Amino acid sequence: MQVIESVYEMQSLAINLRAKDRLIGLVPTMGCLHAGHLSLIEAARKVTDTVVVSIFVNPIQFGPNEDFDAYPRQRARDLELCEEAGVDIVFAPEPEALYPRGFSTYVVEELVSRPLCGISRPNHFRGVLTVVAKLFNIIHPDTAVFGQKDAQQAAVIKKMVNDLHFCIDILVEPTAREPDGLAMSSRNRYLSPTQREDARALYLALQAAKALVDAGVRNVDRVVAEATHTLSSHRRVRVIYVSVVDRCTMESAREIIPGKCLLAVAAWVDEVRLIDNLLL
Ligand code: PAF
Repeated sequence: MQVIESVYEMQSLAINLRAKDRLIGLVPTMGCLHAGHLSLIEAARKVTDTVVVSIFVNPIQFGPNEDFDAYPRQRARDLELCEEAGVDIVFAPEPEALYPRGFSTYVVEELVSRPLCGISRPNHFRGVLTVVAKLFNIIHPDTAVFGQKDAQQAAVIKKMVNDLHFCIDILVEPTAREPDGLAMSSRNRYLSPTQREDARALYLALQAAKALVDAGVRNVDRVVAEATHTLSSHRRVRVIYVSVVDRCTMESAREIIPGKCLLAVAAWVDEVRLIDNLLL
């Protein structure tokens, strides 16, 4: 496994690989890898010849009062996990390599990025799209793999790929969950044992809503109320949003159309911000 920090070296290697007709798969991460990331790597392995994992805690997707400094970093362990998972190349640049002094160009998507997390994290998707576009230009992947847990992120990236004519397949893999249903996330590490118990509320809320939809309920307000009630019945949980949206555009849905909608939730568990969603 090669570990590359230099943009120039990564770009040259990618150009060489493509010249040899090798299909490149990219799994972009911020490190602190868990079983969810490993399933993305596995998915990339199935459809490409060379798997690249990028590890970069992207400063510009964090707001001023968010957890950029506290974000868990475990480079040595991440490299071990990548090696064990059969990753070919890890691209792990320093912040100055991607954002040199005077950097002033950003990628902004103005529709899909606006609702849900776009309201409470105003510049978040601008930061995500900018770094993902950079990774695409540096690594030249044929396929890039993202997780369904970050459903809005995946939808915004698909929109950018379509709008800006990137010739890249975007794969979205199902959310990996802990045995009790909690969606895997690097931020779960922030949770104390009691917060961890309450964090399960997000999964329980999605399940309560799903039970209604499975029973034939198509009224959005009723489903949202059920999920909100479940979340609010946990002491440490404060709801940020509960919303039924179109899976592609993230626009609020007027009624639940199975196969087309997504129930998205975001909540604070004390000071830890968690998100989850369910395809309806
Ligand atoms: O989902 C993430 O880990 C990040 O948002 C991503 C896509 C690696 C961009 O920094």
